[in-house]
Amino acid sequence: MKKIKINGGKELKGTIKISGAKNSAVALVPASLLSDGIVTIDNIPDISDIDALNEILEFLGAKVKRENDWMIIDQTNLKNKEIPESKAKKLRASYYFMGALLGKYKKVEIYFPGGCSIGARPINLHLKGFAALGANIVEKGNKYLIEADELKGNNIYLDVPSVGATINIMLAAVKAQGLTVIENAAKEPEIVNVATFLNNMGAKITGAGTSEIRIKGVNKLGNGFTEVIPDRIEAGTYVIAGALMGNKLKIENIIPEHIESLTLKLKEMHIPIEIYDDYLIISKCNNMKPVSIKTQGYPGFATDLQQPMTVLLVGANGTSVLEETIYENRFQNIPFLNEMGADIIIDSRKIYIKGPKKLSGKEIIATDLRAGACLVLAGLKADGITIIKEVEHILRGYENIIEKLKNVGADIVLVDE
Ligand code: EPU
Repeated sequence: MKKIKINGGKELKGTIKISGAKNSAVALVPASLLSDGIVTIDNIPDISDIDALNEILEFLGAKVKRENDWMIIDQTNLKNKEIPESKAKKLRASYYFMGALLGKYKKVEIYFPGGCSIGARPINLHLKGFAALGANIVEKGNKYLIEADELKGNNIYLDVPSVGATINIMLAAVKAQGLTVIENAAKEPEIVNVATFLNNMGAKITGAGTSEIRIKGVNKLGNGFTEVIPDRIEAGTYVIAGALMGNKLKIENIIPEHIESLTLKLKEMHIPIEIYDDYLIISKCNNMKPVSIKTQGYPGFATDLQQPMTVLLVGANGTSVLEETIYENRFQNIPFLNEMGADIIIDSRKIYIKGPKKLSGKEIIATDLRAGACLVLAGLKADGITIIKEVEHILRGYENIIEKLKNVGADIVLVDE
């Protein structure tokens, strides 16, 4: 069992370079199988979610070569096979094989995906989209058989602007006959990254990044190249680390616009932050103002940064209110923060954070990826030793988190026992 051990209270100084976005990469890799040729993806993060997708691709017959942060995938010998439950359950993004295999072979047999336990996370909108394109869906327990004689373009309205459903429907529709229009689509930058990649392979997609995406079906997708965009959630996590413990901490390889909902909040809290073209510099502030935050789809405040942000609000002068509107079970970090000295009350979808409070090191558990990131930040801030268990959740989504933090002055180690 791996644990993270942090001796807190150390100043963070120097530079952290942000890796490729997990939530883009985990869609780009399955999207690559729509190609009948060879695709290259640059800036792939070295995280265990990518290893799990790699395993599925190789199981389907793709030849995958990974070197540094490049991934070259040869799809010429791909076969459509049922993806075993053990592989599908390793991560959420295995659901992108639904859209990709359906789009390519008009048939897919797959199990319900895995991923962090942060709410019910249904996939009804993905299935609604496939059905609208003409697919027949048979659900047996947690296994799905999705099949179509022909996929035909259609107008699909998403009741909720779901990132996963938007991408999955795009994947299924790129080779459908005629025009597909996704209305009330999600607008996250990761969706633009996937659409650009598909267009590079020969697809005809317009409007990605807006709430109406139009996909004109094509017969064939060929070779393609793309670069994974910088991870705005990883960036946001380290920006918060800088606000907690930074002394002119530089966060580089970022797209500042992608984290504007965070940086504007930090400015509201009076945190000193200087933003440049592709980097920013941040220092801690001893007199932070409390704020109200409500999570929303992009460009609103990202749900994935809600848990990391909570640690910062613990140190603010007064009561902050944070409302989680996307997932119903994303407060599993709170009892641990309270054990460490925070004063946070959970009231349904809202939390009230009474500050300023001091944190002290404890033995705690990472229940999911972003809860884990929150606890790492708490450990950096706290007096004394923090030990975080079940850190596999964290390693799924943060490339080299230990080295990146150690390099800027944190006293942090990964213990394997
Ligand atoms: N929803 C439905 N039906 C659906 C799909 C979604 O009701 O068919 C609801 C969800 O229950 C949720 C909301 O719609 O309340 C939004 O969910 P969305 O589909 O956008 O989430 P997702 O695609 O499953 C991705 C990221 C998440 C991130 C969300 C929101 C991946 C693999 N996951 O999930 O990332 O929180 O978008 O931005 O891209 C993480 O990185 O820690 C993480 C959980």
